[in-house]
Amino acid sequence: KVGDNNFRPAYHFTPEKNWMNDPNGMVYYKGEYHLFFQYNPDDNVWGPMHWGHAVSEDLVNWEELPVALYPDDLGNIFSGSAIVDTHNTAGFKTGDEDVLAAIFTHHNPETNEQYQSLAYSNDKGRSWQKYEGNPVLTNEDKTDFRDPKVIWHEEKQQWIMVVAAGQEIIFYSSPNLKEWEYLQSFGHGHGAHGGVWECPDLFTVRNENGEERWALLVSINPGAPNGGSGTQYFLGSFDGETFETSQTETKWLDYGTDNYAGVTWSNEPNGRNLFIGWMSNWAYAQNVPTTAWRSAMTLPRTLELSNNGDLLLSKPAEEMSSVLASNSVEYTTNGVDIKNDPVLKTGTFQINTTLDLSKDKSIELFWGNETSGVSLQYDKTTSEFVINRNDAGYSFNNLNNNNLFIPYVLPESNELELEIWVDKSSVEIFVNGGERVITFLIFPNTPFGDLQIHSDSEAEFIQSLYIQPIVNK
Ligand code: FRU
Repeated sequence: KVGDNNFRPAYHFTPEKNWMNDPNGMVYYKGEYHLFFQYNPDDNVWGPMHWGHAVSEDLVNWEELPVALYPDDLGNIFSGSAIVDTHNTAGFKTGDEDVLAAIFTHHNPETNEQYQSLAYSNDKGRSWQKYEGNPVLTNEDKTDFRDPKVIWHEEKQQWIMVVAAGQEIIFYSSPNLKEWEYLQSFGHGHGAHGGVWECPDLFTVRNENGEERWALLVSINPGAPNGGSGTQYFLGSFDGETFETSQTETKWLDYGTDNYAGVTWSNEPNGRNLFIGWMSNWAYAQNVPTTAWRSAMTLPRTLELSNNGDLLLSKPAEEMSSVLASNSVEYTTNGVDIKNDPVLKTGTFQINTTLDLSKDKSIELFWGNETSGVSLQYDKTTSEFVINRNDAGYSFNNLNNNNLFIPYVLPESNELELEIWVDKSSVEIFVNGGERVITFLIFPNTPFGDLQIHSDSEAEFIQSLYIQPIVNK
């Protein structure tokens, strides 16, 4: 019988037991990438939220640590962020280590009130104290008021908080994490508003031309392009007080169904915008066919500005290449028809292919077996990907449609480069260097060992193709 063991990812983070949702408090300190997460230690569905905790030195191997933050008199512990308080601005420092401070939402389950609070650690994140002055920020006008992300603004020498409030993002500033001053509300007239705004993030992005812009991420549920939960972004400017954008169209960080509530690491040692998201969707997250554990994170990714300054490009963090075994594969330049392949059947591999569509109208890639599978089509005339996961095992029945539609105009070169990372129950497709990302879950009932890649003509369209197995690191 297929189940938990068949579906637990080989190279994506999952908690050992029980329910997980949003990534929280990602911060780097002294050789460790900390990942906290919305966690219910007692059940495999959402419930009284805690912050679970894991650390990694290489973003590939994760060690799960004891729960970091427990519910208290002020409520359960919702999403938020963490920073290294290098200058001890909050005065929490007691020893030799820099203070790690977590800024999170307290949610009172009786009144449904939400307010922002602090906790801190003087021992590299191993133990946490709640600040006795909690909460540090309340807002009586808003019922949904949560998910604070705090960054240090170098020029202003102040902390900046972005926090979701209804269908807006509110900006605050603070010298010490404890007292917050209102700066701005952003949202009205901008972006998608099909649901409540959650889990914002604010950071600078650069491209190869040295151009720098500010990016604001905003998760929204429901209202994503393919239903349920998704993350939109705004590119603009921020002077420490006001975020402005001239962006008119809604842009999505990921066009798949399963990348939500993602934010970036604080204090990343290489200056990268290192991102991770929750690889699920509120439309069905609590029903997916695993029981011992539920939900995984996406691959860690870096976010960069495209050279035309218009897009956020997502790429798998380079550390991930260490899980790939080099391997070549037989193919002809005008098609692929692989049957019953042992590597494909493991359900953990990466496909990397470059296709030349100058003589073709459309291509189709199918991965499956005789009875089920998942297909990806790209059509140049409609400038759209269509992904069909209706017959890929588990049926995601809370979404109206299990075809995913992803608009994408091919560059003039007619080249389509696909980097496809498959793990036991997930697929992440990076298109042309991250101009589009499509992340989605599948739960195959029987292993998929066949792979076909065809185009609508007999033209030679496959320029290169690699299928690399995943090795245990
Ligand atoms: C997003 C979210 C957050 C909230 C958390 C609760 O998935 O709804 O807004 O803080 O989950 O678990």
